[in-house]
Amino acid sequence: MNKKLFSSFTIKDVTLKNRIVMSPMCMYSSDETGLVTDWHKVHYASRAIGGTGLVMIEATAVTAQGRISERDLGIWNDKQVKGLSELVSQIHEHGAKAAIQIAHAGRKARVTGDVIAPSAIAFDDKSKTPIEMTEQHIQETIASFQDAAKRAKDAGFDIIEIHGAHGYLINEFLSPLANKRTDNYGGSAENRYRFLKEIIISVKKVWDGPLFVRVSANDYHPEGLSIEDYITIASWLKEDGVDLVDVSSGSVVLSPIHVYPGYQVPLSDRIRNEAHISTGAVGLITSGLQAEEILQNERADLIFIARELLRNPYWPRQAAIELKTEIPAPTQYARSW
Ligand SMILES: Cc1cc2nc3c(=O)[nH]c(=O)nc-3n(C[C@H](O)[C@H](O)[C@H](O)COP(=O)(O)O)c2cc1C
Repeated sequence: MNKKLFSSFTIKDVTLKNRIVMSPMCMYSSDETGLVTDWHKVHYASRAIGGTGLVMIEATAVTAQGRISERDLGIWNDKQVKGLSELVSQIHEHGAKAAIQIAHAGRKARVTGDVIAPSAIAFDDKSKTPIEMTEQHIQETIASFQDAAKRAKDAGFDIIEIHGAHGYLINEFLSPLANKRTDNYGGSAENRYRFLKEIIISVKKVWDGPLFVRVSANDYHPEGLSIEDYITIASWLKEDGVDLVDVSSGSVVLSPIHVYPGYQVPLSDRIRNEAHISTGAVGLITSGLQAEEILQNERADLIFIARELLRNPYWPRQAAIELKTEIPAPTQYARSW
């Protein structure tokens, strides 16, 4: 019998051939124009050849001001679509589906000029103090997520993920540690969720494919958000038509994180089983057996692999051997296994 890691998973009209997702990872390999380079083409196609079911392109900036660095990949103008569509074609050609994570770095942007955030509080003493966003900034940023979604559709992506984690702009709105606003976008949990809600609504006007949201389901801070808060947020995401929550944690403030194999899996487990929405688990998942345990015990629907796939683009094959499952090889490599 096929193992669950190698069973298909359908979301809307997209069927993934297995449950292995290449977790989004910034490559900082563009120039300041945010275009796809040869590096991206080789890097992402390799993971598709290696057997990953869903290849998710790194955090891709919806505005130039919202870049983590000046070498981020971008989706803020139409010239960027061609390279992205070439990436999608290559990923498809090698048997995987393609997703893109659309992102705005907020107060963590490392770019020349002003940075924006819900409140004028710097992330740390090395960061710029951001400008508190006006209503106009908020509306423009929501529109830039919508424009990015249109471009992602034009490029042919199968799935879009909105980056709501790791202390970037959306996470800054969600967390009371970074959001001290007194208008409709701050204060109560509903108000802090409003920015993400409006992004989802505006993205869904131009995108009817599967929509994921990555969250940091624990701020690891006594005055920050905990898993209980995120179970509520996940239930709102479900109501608002999000298909899957990709469950990460931390980084909205500098708090220590106790890291061990599968450390974020309990967060995915609780969101999946208490908010009743599909989830992805991520974080120090490195073996096929570990991934299979998470899926069989219904603690997640998809397994996101980051650093292990950097070390080994053929990790899906290694996991299949571990789970005594046969997966097809690229025909060009058939003589090797
Ligand atoms: C080089 C690198 C770049 C990353 N860039 C992103 C990113 O663009 N978006 C994101 O949500 N997470 C990013 N992450 C976090 C990973 O997606 C993942 O959540 C984290 O590394 C934990 O998974 P792992 O233990 O399998 O590496 C990055 C991690 C690494 C190592």
